[in-house]
Parts: sequence; structure tokens; C-alpha cells
Amino acid sequence: MHTSTLPALGLGTFRLKDQQVIDSVRNGLDLGYRHIDTAQIYGNEAEVGQAMADSGVARDDLFVTTKIWTENLSRDKLLPSLKESLHKLRLDQVDLTLIHWPSPQDELPVADYLQALAEAKAQGLTRLIGISNFTIAHMEQAIAAVGAEAIATNQVEIHPFLQNRKVIDFARAKGIHLTAYMPLAYGKVMEDATLLEIAARHGVSAAQVALAWSLQQGFAVIPSSTRRENLAANLQAQQLTLSEAEMQAIAALDRGERLANPGFAPQWD
Ligand SMILES: NC(=O)c1ccc[n+]([C@@H]2O[C@H](COP(=O)([O-])OP(=O)(O)OC[C@H]3O[C@@H](n4cnc5c(N)ncnc54)[C@H](OP(=O)(O)O)[C@@H]3O)[C@@H](O)[C@H]2O)c1
Repeated sequence: MHTSTLPALGLGTFRLKDQQVIDSVRNGLDLGYRHIDTAQIYGNEAEVGQAMADSGVARDDLFVTTKIWTENLSRDKLLPSLKESLHKLRLDQVDLTLIHWPSPQDELPVADYLQALAEAKAQGLTRLIGISNFTIAHMEQAIAAVGAEAIATNQVEIHPFLQNRKVIDFARAKGIHLTAYMPLAYGKVMEDATLLEIAARHGVSAAQVALAWSLQQGFAVIPSSTRRENLAANLQAQQLTLSEAEMQAIAALDRGERLANPGFAPQWD
């Protein structure tokens, strides 16, 4: 799959370990997912690698993302850590490598680790590079370091309750693609009256409505699930089209509710 952009729908693997991640990836690949999102800190790259190898899906048909953990951002650690990730994933090259979080308290300069990541790409360890949890200020520094065209995506938290408009507007103005993580607000979308009402109208679930809302704005989405039926339903969200009025009704659900909090998050926009 030698596309220069990310497949719109991917499979998240945060929190999934051991047999649970193997089953999720195996089911996902069987159902037709071809984009898998993992990270060094998830502690599941080896299991993701095993499930991909066992699936028999051709390497070229897969789009695999991993993320460099904060402890590996220094020049001397970034490339060796990515080689270790490749070993665990049983791959010669990942499709996309993200900087998982900006260096805590900006201890290391953005330019240093973005240039190290660009070097990893030049060496063929990763086909594309990108960023995650980058604020506008961090995106400005990343653009200055490697150019906006080198940044395949900024993976940030986006769901109906945290719509992240400032980051989205800035990224769009610079031509940087966005990936919505926690697109189901970790399952909370299933409890929202507006989403449930729109879902009932279409004969789908609130999760599918939330995914369609992100997809319709041009974001990639990477929902995770431990259940085969939910994995299948999430894939089907690509067939759902929401009306302009429904998109507007969901836009009104923004309440700035941020769920990801690792304790060293940057100053959010
Ligand atoms: N870059 C970052 O810093 C960052 C941070 C967080 C997450 N991420 C990425 O984003 C991915 C997604 O985020 P997430 O896994 O935290 O949350 P999420 O995808 O928003 O929500 C997952 C939760 O929703 C449930 N669910 C999934 N599909 C459903 C459906 N169709 N109907 C009802 N419930 C459903 C799952 O339960 P079941 O298992 O029961 O289906 C699970 O509890 C992660 O796996 C990870 O790859 C990245």
C-alpha cells in the first residue's frame, strides 16, 4: 500500500496487551482493517507483529504506525529505539513513525528530535514521519525544522466532546493532515443523547456516528475495540453520511473534555 497518506480508518491498540491485542489485531485484519496504530509505550509491538505475521496479509497491504516514547527522543536513542520497534514488529520498515508527545517541559528542542526522525526516514526505517499531541507552538517548530510537507499527520485527541478547533484550524492552514485519537471518547459517545438520536435516525450506533463525524471532516480515525462486532461496526462507519444539520448538531457538543492526561502534557491551545 504505498500511499503517501494514511488510510482513513485504522485500528488502535492502546491498553491492549498479550492475547487481547493479538485477538484484536487478528480480528481486525480478518475484517478488513489494514492500518494498525501502536506505540513503543503500549508494550504490545511484539504481539502486534505476531498477529500481523500470522494473518498472512501481505506486507505491502498493511499500513503500520508506531510512536517514539519520550525517553527515546534524544539523538542517540531515537534511531536505536525505532530499530528495536522494527524488530518487535517483525518489519524492515514502518509506514509511519510519530513523535508520541513533545519532550516533557520542552527539555529537548523540537528541531533536534524532528531532525533525528527525518534521519530515520532517510535511512529507510520509516516511510513517513509525523507528530502527535503537538500544540500550535510545537507545530510551528516542527515546520521550521523539517517543513510542513514532511509531516504526514498530527495525531491528536478529537471527539465530539473535545473538538480541538484551534489545533485543527492551524494544521489545516499549513496543510498538515490530522488523525483523531480516542475518536469514541473511550466509549463515552455511546451515552450522548444527541448522538443516540442521530444514530437511531440512520439505524446505526452512536459510535458509528462519532466516527463518521470525524471522517467527514477529513481526519483519519483509529478506534480500538476488544470485540469483533464493534471492530466490524467501526469499519462500517465509512459508509455513513451525516447531513449538514447533523454535523452542526454534533459541533454543538464540544465541551473541551480532554481525556488523555499523561502528567506531562504541553500547554494545550
Ligand atoms: N497519540 C496518543 O497520545 C494517543 C492517546 C490515546 C489513544 N491513542 C490511539 O487512539 C486509539 C483509540 O483510542 P482509545 O482506544 O483510547 O479509545 P476509543 O477508541 O475512543 O474508545 C475505545 C473504547 O470504546 C469501546 N468501543 C469501541 N468500538 C465500539 C462500538 N462500536 N460500540 C461501543 N463501544 C465501542 C471499546 O470497548 P470494547 O473493547 O468493549 O469494544 C473501548 O472501551 C488508541 O487505541 C491508540 O491507538 C493515541
